[in-house]
Amino acid sequence: MQEHERHVLVTGGAGYIGSHAVLALQDAGWQVSVIDNLSTGNRAALPPEVAFHHGDIGNEALLAEIFAARPARAVMHFAGSIVVPESVSDPLGYYHNNTVKSRALIAAAVAAGVPHFVFSSTAAVYGEPAKVPVAEDSAKAPINPYGASKLMTEQMLADTAAAHPLNYAALRYFNVAGADPEGRSGQSTPAATHLIKVACEAVVGKREGVAIFGSDFPTPDGTGVRDYIHVADLAQAHVLALEALIAEPTRSLVMNCGYGRGYSVREVLDAADRVAGTAIARQEQPRRAGDPPALVADNSLIRATLPWTPRYEDLDTIVAHALAWERKLAAG
Ligand code: UD1
Repeated sequence: MQEHERHVLVTGGAGYIGSHAVLALQDAGWQVSVIDNLSTGNRAALPPEVAFHHGDIGNEALLAEIFAARPARAVMHFAGSIVVPESVSDPLGYYHNNTVKSRALIAAAVAAGVPHFVFSSTAAVYGEPAKVPVAEDSAKAPINPYGASKLMTEQMLADTAAAHPLNYAALRYFNVAGADPEGRSGQSTPAATHLIKVACEAVVGKREGVAIFGSDFPTPDGTGVRDYIHVADLAQAHVLALEALIAEPTRSLVMNCGYGRGYSVREVLDAADRVAGTAIARQEQPRRAGDPPALVADNSLIRATLPWTPRYEDLDTIVAHALAWERKLAAG
């Protein structure tokens, strides 16, 4: 087998989810290159043997050079902006980073003849679903530019796959959390906003407590319900999705990535208290703009399509891994 047949270019590979995908690819025997502009990523998240290109995915000339120097069997595309409220205040920034630059990346992949593309999409494409669990064929009605910017990229991929010899997987993530079980990577993003990360920061003393955004939702305990998925299980789903694309090059896949069960904000904070043996200070605050009450995946499609066996579904395990990483960060 030629070398390029086992080579993947990972965009955003120095970021939270991308760095875990790099590890999962390596564990599965893939050679990996990374392109990352380090706007939020951290080069130290990458194993030293990974070829690293410090640059922007909007730079088609750079991408052409990278593909010419080392042909890739696939692109895994994680680079992008992910903060929902920021997308509301800076929509054009989000359409630029997430949509316009994805177009450049897809064009470069097509020009170089890369046959497979795995894209990091989001449950935010569903907006406020009429019913949960939400399946892939539910209405796509994003309620923020973040979700819209990702949905546009899905559309570009669908149209590109119809016109060119490329198939793709768009994986719609629910709430990604946790860290590499072996402690090799985790979420290092400064000014994080994600609940489990924020709770872990409170445990290690980086913040005073955790705000509960909304306790009057139509949910069992009044707080928001989400489907938290362990980042290592998510990374594994990417490797399996790539293998499925290779096995059936005329088929593309659009699949939810979640466990199909929801936890409320209070349940997550209870888990953090249990795992850490502390009581995190909680402060009830008004709802955050644009937060749907409940978002839980119908994951029957991914389970029927890929031999995906999640290993870290347990909420306490997710929190424990996130906390272990947070302690490592705190220790410098
Ligand atoms: C959102 C997106 C998701 C995206 C992710 C990336 C939606 C519906 N979901 O997830 O697609 O991948 O951002 O950034 O747009 N909460 C608190 N206190 C906190 C933090 C959060 O109560 O300090 C609550 C939120 O109100 C929500 C839950 O915890 O109910 C999870 O919030 P968060 O971790 O920020 O993720 P989402 O907003 O669900």
